[in-house]
Amino acid sequence: MDAGLTPERTEGMTKRMAGRISRRKFGQLLGAAAGAAALPGMPKATIAQAEPEITNAPRRFPEGFLWGSATASYQVEGAVHEDGRGPSIWDTFSHTPGKTHDGDTGDVADDHYHRYKEDIGLMSDLGLTTYRFSIAWSRIFPQGVGARNPKGFDFYDRMLDTLLEAKITPYCTLYHWDLPQALEDKGGWQSRDTAKAFADYAGVVAEHLSDRVKYFMTVNELRSYVNAGYESGIHAPGLKLDRKGVAQVAHYAVLGHGLAVEAIRAHAKPGTKVGFADNPQAATPVIETPEHIAAAERAMREENAMYGNVIFEGRYTDAYLKKLGPDAPHFTPEEMKAIGSPLDFLGLNVYTGDFVRADESSPVGYAMVKRPASSPHMYSDWLFVAPESLYWAPKITAKIWKLKEIYITENGCSSADVLTPDGHVYDSDRIMYLRNYMTQLHRAVSEGVPVKGYFLWSLLDNFEWADGYLKRFGITYVDFMTQKRTPKLSSSYYKEVIRRNGLV
Ligand code: BG6
Repeated sequence: MDAGLTPERTEGMTKRMAGRISRRKFGQLLGAAAGAAALPGMPKATIAQAEPEITNAPRRFPEGFLWGSATASYQVEGAVHEDGRGPSIWDTFSHTPGKTHDGDTGDVADDHYHRYKEDIGLMSDLGLTTYRFSIAWSRIFPQGVGARNPKGFDFYDRMLDTLLEAKITPYCTLYHWDLPQALEDKGGWQSRDTAKAFADYAGVVAEHLSDRVKYFMTVNELRSYVNAGYESGIHAPGLKLDRKGVAQVAHYAVLGHGLAVEAIRAHAKPGTKVGFADNPQAATPVIETPEHIAAAERAMREENAMYGNVIFEGRYTDAYLKKLGPDAPHFTPEEMKAIGSPLDFLGLNVYTGDFVRADESSPVGYAMVKRPASSPHMYSDWLFVAPESLYWAPKITAKIWKLKEIYITENGCSSADVLTPDGHVYDSDRIMYLRNYMTQLHRAVSEGVPVKGYFLWSLLDNFEWADGYLKRFGITYVDFMTQKRTPKLSSSYYKEVIRRNGLV
């Protein structure tokens, strides 16, 4: 006997079956009633049309809405020893036993360094109008500072020229976690000098590329590389600092962003736009009522006090400084001015949401709702399904930080993809995820929330940091032994979204 068939469960099944039967019967009765109620002389076809119909009214995005995908240097490029590239903290970390799944490294990754033309071909097939990529700092400055490596520039020049020929607009991230190891050896983001070095590098790259790149993001996900890298230690450089140490790292990280904004403005061609890709705690009202919505707005500021909020407001909130007390970071007024440099746009990486409820007993006026153990998630156990976060994150940030231009710079999910014998990957769970999130994004855009484009993470299965090659986020399957690329079913889905410029 099935051990799971307890009396309660059996009773539940019986009830559910009864429910199904009665619902089906109810439908039949409804049909009969509709027929009976039909007016004499009404054509039969009209009676049929009175049946509830599933319509798919076109829900389009505004003309010119950008559809893209995103990747990051260490996750796709490979070629770590080629053409003078210097080592990054991810080379060191991934080669340290026990740090990544199965000891996977980004040594080869997707070999995008050599296969970028094929990958841009995939983008063209999809109909992408834009592509977000990142620069490996240690390809440009192998030691982080000092001598430049012209061959590093050559790669990005080649890649950009191919992209522009394909009429795909590049969006460039300057830092997606691959800090030159030489800088980590001098303290990494624990040192103020790294913030300065980052600005110098950003200025040089912007000067070189801004004839072809109009959109620069300074950094990707401050929260990830500060907290995973320097607090929990699950990402490079793998440190576990105390609260004071982490707060100071967070400060130097936002300072690095701010100084880089100034450097880009000083060196890039006029018309260059600057922002950053943030992964805020996406505060989402647990129920859409005024009090919970107001609570989520407060939470969006306070939960992101050390990242997005300090950048847009130019100051740490009182509650943040009070909470840290003696562990609060050291900062100067000049630093705060740089951190608060005005931006042209915000990139939002939204994968999941954090539910918030109103709580008058709390000094901040809200409480984060603890996730029940049964909360559904995708293949990655951190990736809880919360489609409404793609409505609320842009809506709330636009309101509280007075934003005029937002991009969803990452959204997507992992799936336990299997290449079937017929040569396909039927990733229906990824399609389900994307459809639900895009529906919420459409809701935001329809209300006038200024989201101008969407970048799906990711174009390719790739090196997923500590998860190595275990968790696949691509809409293109990559056989990591042969480097063969196979577009998944989700790629056909996304292609249709782009073709319609609307929900599918
Ligand atoms: C985002 C990162 O946070 O999430 C990407 O910007 C990353 O670089 C993606 O690949 C998925 O995260 P993870 O940790 O599951 O690989």
